Amino acid sequence: MRVLTIIPTYNEIESLPLTLRRLRAAVPEVDVLVVDDNSPDGTGRWADQTAAEDENVHVLHRTEKNGLGGAYIAGFGWGLDRGYDVLVEMDADGSHQPEQLPRLLEAIQSADLVIGSRRAPGGKMVNWPMHRKLISAAGSLYPRLMLGLDLTDVTAGYRAYRADTLRQIDLAGVQSRGYGFQVDMTFRTAQLGKRIVEVPITFVEREFGESKMSGDIITEAVASVTRWGLAARWEKLQSLLRG
Ligand code: GDD
Ligand code: MN
Repeated sequence: MRVLTIIPTYNEIESLPLTLRRLRAAVPEVDVLVVDDNSPDGTGRWADQTAAEDENVHVLHRTEKNGLGGAYIAGFGWGLDRGYDVLVEMDADGSHQPEQLPRLLEAIQSADLVIGSRRAPGGKMVNWPMHRKLISAAGSLYPRLMLGLDLTDVTAGYRAYRADTLRQIDLAGVQSRGYGFQVDMTFRTAQLGKRIVEVPITFVEREFGESKMSGDIITEAVASVTRWGLAARWEKLQSLLRG
């Protein structure tokens, strides 16, 4: 099983070195692709130097900041072209523990998508203020009700996809950029009738740098989920009427 871990970065010079070191130590056989959006703080340059010294590390440069979703779509394309069997999503900021990646990889043996869940039994959130927990709980509950997804953490960003799952999704058609991207991909995977499994993870809030998520990104996610939910209900209604 050839595994590629994709790490999107925008101004993560304080976090990426440690995350990458921990990842290489925890799962040395796994390749890494850093997808940098021309970070002004030099994250991309640092990643290039590291890639020159470590053949398991690769870098994809994009010219401008274009959201987490865009970075992952580019990274998926890169990995699918090179024949990887499993593509993992991981944040650069230390929130996703590289030491827990084996859990996800074990589960992907018998699943099409594995979600590292903060809310499944055994999952944890460390250093998250109450208001983030509340936003996150609501952000998980709403898509769950609206889209009928029987999952505890649909916005989660620590995941493993089988290459076959991604090949069946129209990646070029995925427009969502922020939290909505994770929900969008989950919904598309569920609609294909794929097997989605959650494993508990410990999510640790970043120590350095800052979150790139904003109010706009939350608004985008809520609007999209509402639209997808209504569209799905409309289709169901029409097929009922057609008998
Ligand atoms: N290349 C690129 N371009 N990377 C980006 C961009 C972008 O425009 N925006 C964010 N990133 C990278 C960050 O550098 C980091 O490595 C990762 O994406 C996550 O960004 P954060 O800004 O740390 O996100 P967060 O902590 O608020 O959100 C996390 O939790 C959410 C659920 O609560 C992520 O895991 C989300 O995917 C998840 O939905
Ligand atoms: Mn973060």
